Amino acid sequence: MIVGILKESETEKRVAMLPGEAASLKKLGVDVIIEKYAGVNAFAFDEEYKSAGAAISPRKDILTQASVVLSVDHIPEEEITSCREGQVLCSVLNPSENAVWLEKARKQGLTILALDLIPRTTRAQSMDILSSMATVSGYKAVLHAASLSPRFFPMFMSAAGTIKPSRVLILGAGVAGLQAIAIARKLGAVVEVFDVRSAVKEEVKSLGGKFIEVEGAKEDSAAGGYAVEQTDEYKKKQQDLIQLRAKAADVVIATAQIPGRKAPVLLLKETVNAMKPGSIIVDLAASTGGNCELTENGKIVVVNGVTIIGKSDYPSDMSTDASRMFGSNIINLLKIMIDKEGNLVLNMQDEIINGTTAVHAGEYICQRVKQMLNIK
Ligand code: NAI
Repeated sequence: MIVGILKESETEKRVAMLPGEAASLKKLGVDVIIEKYAGVNAFAFDEEYKSAGAAISPRKDILTQASVVLSVDHIPEEEITSCREGQVLCSVLNPSENAVWLEKARKQGLTILALDLIPRTTRAQSMDILSSMATVSGYKAVLHAASLSPRFFPMFMSAAGTIKPSRVLILGAGVAGLQAIAIARKLGAVVEVFDVRSAVKEEVKSLGGKFIEVEGAKEDSAAGGYAVEQTDEYKKKQQDLIQLRAKAADVVIATAQIPGRKAPVLLLKETVNAMKPGSIIVDLAASTGGNCELTENGKIVVVNGVTIIGKSDYPSDMSTDASRMFGSNIINLLKIMIDKEGNLVLNMQDEIINGTTAVHAGEYICQRVKQMLNIK
């Protein structure tokens, strides 16, 4: 069986697999082909892929010959018809935003593995691309804020006097938020944290953050550990308390998300206006609308001296390690799909395979995709 790796678009610097992971892939008993210059933006070069046992191939050959095609982002819609029936495309998809793309792929008879659908279970942890990329984002967001902040993060005792540590406010303690807490604490900042899920309270504390509780949060065990939309009363109470804490903060890292929905607005315009000039807001939820009312996705704006960074693509900036984690997650997924002879066996009874397969043999498979796209 041939597994192909594609080069990404100009704006995406990651590659689905670095040479080290390509070598591990070969050990699963498959042939690996990769598009020319696929890894250059992650500082992985064609010669290294060749040394790892991969062959360099033109894109059109990968799209026609490979049984499994790997990429970070899904291929452009116009390329779907270049693929052949039965072929497996494996990438991040965001199905709710790409219903038309997915329907075209279904009609073409392709199997689509959406890496962002991998179930958040213990068994699937080593395949969890969302967690890997959120780890990168949480880390980089804090470093970006620290580099733009006019203040030190740690407390400084010098001959020029004592400088107080920065105060960092983290909104949302999922994977990215927890990583942001850890890094901000390592840099010596005082960290305060909001989340609607009470389950994260202990984790926040163990990382050295202070969990600020807002009473009356709605939690739903059916949401699979994710947050759910809150009542208007709760939102108002939470926004007021966030405003109070944001006034004292030097940096806000906003990471709050609700799967399949617009990100909750937690920082109102009036909150930004009440913040200290020189403060930094990094909004990781920018691509889903932002946690801050004034966020502009992909832009840095300054309002009353407060810098608001709307950025959801830090993993692309950390292309080498983000690609390493991405490739390693894919290998772990492929290990449960490739048999001893190196053939792909998609056992739809397996909850990870079933939960990740958006479409297969002309059918929508994954229950979550059906719900997202309202398919009966
Ligand atoms: P996410 O990216 O969906 O959301 C980030 C955080 O924002 C979450 O902690 C969420 O509770 C919080 N949030 C949402 N609305 C909020 C609001 N209005 N105010 C304050 N905070 C708000 O979360 P992520 O990182 O994808 O994690 C989601 C869940 O998945 C967590 O329970 C996590 O523990 C679980 N998980 C499980 C894994 C596994 O078992 N393999 C792997 C990774 C995550």
